Amino acid sequence: MMVEGLYTKREDGRKFDEVRPMKAKVGIVPSADGSASFETGKTKAIAVVRGPRTLHPQHMQNAQTGILRVSYGMMPFSVEDRIRPGPNRRSEEISKVTEWALSSVVDLSGFPNTVVDVFVQIPQADAGTRVAGINAAALALAHAGIPMKEMVSAIGVGKIDKTLVVDLNKYEDSIFHDGEGSTDIPVVMTSRTKEIALLQLDGKISVDEFKETIEMAKKACDDILKVQMDALKNVSEESNE
Ligand code: CDP
Repeated sequence: MMVEGLYTKREDGRKFDEVRPMKAKVGIVPSADGSASFETGKTKAIAVVRGPRTLHPQHMQNAQTGILRVSYGMMPFSVEDRIRPGPNRRSEEISKVTEWALSSVVDLSGFPNTVVDVFVQIPQADAGTRVAGINAAALALAHAGIPMKEMVSAIGVGKIDKTLVVDLNKYEDSIFHDGEGSTDIPVVMTSRTKEIALLQLDGKISVDEFKETIEMAKKACDDILKVQMDALKNVSEESNE
């Protein structure tokens, strides 16, 4: 059941539960241990993986397991207003939540004292960059052969007035910020057990709307997973040629 609201038609003609056109590619940086890109509409994320390698300084090592370290950043010309290069509060937060989401599926117990670095960069942003970054990073980790219990797929669900929609673009992201009781909910879901690896909620939502959000996220993540699996399949076919 779709919750009725004032936002009755999407600006770009999509259905409320429709993800923007997606593209995924694995192996975009040949010198890296793993790499991938993930696009939805005009939002593009690139992820590069390096490791596992011995972690320095030594006192940060964990003798039981390797650790995952994520760095997220938007390129200066990824949006119309130039973004100042270097870390800021937002990029620190997104790096951390990406790390948490991926850590729930990555198993580095076979690589004690090591680190796996994941660099996520956004060359072009039209909202939903953290979830696009997570989709790219999961692909890059799989490409690097890092043991993963399952894949993860990520999507943003937004509430515009009373209407729930998936994969907001920047226009929708800015109108929903003006609406009353609006919220934007990034959801990361595991591929097999359908567990929620990350959910960020900063706003008001009813219990029914929340249930609907999870259902919409689940369906969108299934669509995203297909695109991710196709990208992984294509790279293994290429390397077998
Ligand atoms: O990108 P995401 O939706 O994960 O995070 P956000 O902080 O909600 O940002 C939403 C969008 O605002 C970004 O995807 C960019 O398109 C835009 N943005 C911007 O124009 N300038 C910034 N400094 C940060 C974000």
